[in-house]
Amino acid sequence: MHLVDLWLTRSLSMCLLLQSFVLMILCFHSASMCPKGCLCSHSGGLNVSCSNANLKEIPRDLPPETVLLYLDSNQITSIPNEIFKDLHQLRVLNLSKNGIEFIDEHAFKGVAETLQTLDLSDNRIKSVHKNAFNNLKARARIANNPWHCDCTLQQVLRSMASNHETANNVICKTSVLDEHAGRPFLNAANDADLCNLPKKTTDYAMLVTMFGWFTMVISYVVYYVRQNQEDARRHLEYLKSLPSRQKKPDEADDISTVV
Ligand SMILES: *[C@@H]1O[C@H](CO)[C@@H](O)[C@H](O)[C@H]1NC(C)=O
Ligand SMILES: *[C@@H]1O[C@H](CO)[C@@H](O)[C@H](O)[C@H]1NC(C)=O
Repeated sequence: MHLVDLWLTRSLSMCLLLQSFVLMILCFHSASMCPKGCLCSHSGGLNVSCSNANLKEIPRDLPPETVLLYLDSNQITSIPNEIFKDLHQLRVLNLSKNGIEFIDEHAFKGVAETLQTLDLSDNRIKSVHKNAFNNLKARARIANNPWHCDCTLQQVLRSMASNHETANNVICKTSVLDEHAGRPFLNAANDADLCNLPKKTTDYAMLVTMFGWFTMVISYVVYYVRQNQEDARRHLEYLKSLPSRQKKPDEADDISTVV
């Protein structure tokens, strides 16, 4: 009887231990489950492939150990801030062929330093936040987007590590200077510093100065004419008053000598 009792309590505790073990495994497994519509494989790190999966947004349940992430050829329109921040091992991110329009400041927060390849080509990006690519070490592909070339884009491209290669393929769909539309960014940025457009600003300064001078001259002329009119009127009045004083010709002589 005693032995059976002992055995029972032992097996019970074993059972509990086993159960918690199974639960732990289940929990761990669910944490690294493959997102819906994606294929996960191990080829030099976790490869999460969600290409062509009709995704409207970036899955929020990406496994934290993801190394390669293919989200290309979907209908993703935005990159929420900090969405990749837990993917500390992410090296390749492909967002090509989507409908992304804008890259916000913290889109790549947490992965900017580890990312080696970033593909944003074939989207609808016109502009990015001026700090969006800060600290980004990756080779970035940003071609085939309807870029608006302005000071911000110039600053962003100049701050990127691999900027020359990246900037090479940027075509200005629109620009602060109309004549840049349709031209490669590098070409446009070569003949004008987009953050310091000298022609326009000097034109503006010239205009302001000229306007100032013009106003001064006009007000002086107006003042002068008025003053003269006043003087002339006074003089006329004085002359008119002269005949009544003609009794004193010596005084009239005095005035004529003064005048
Ligand atoms: C990642 O997985 C996809 C789909 O299984 C495959 O086509 C691709 O070649 C893999 N990438 C690498 C670098 O192994
Ligand atoms: C990203 O995906 C596009 C479309 O499938 C492909 O053409 C491109 O080569 C990929 N880029 C990288 C860096 O793998």
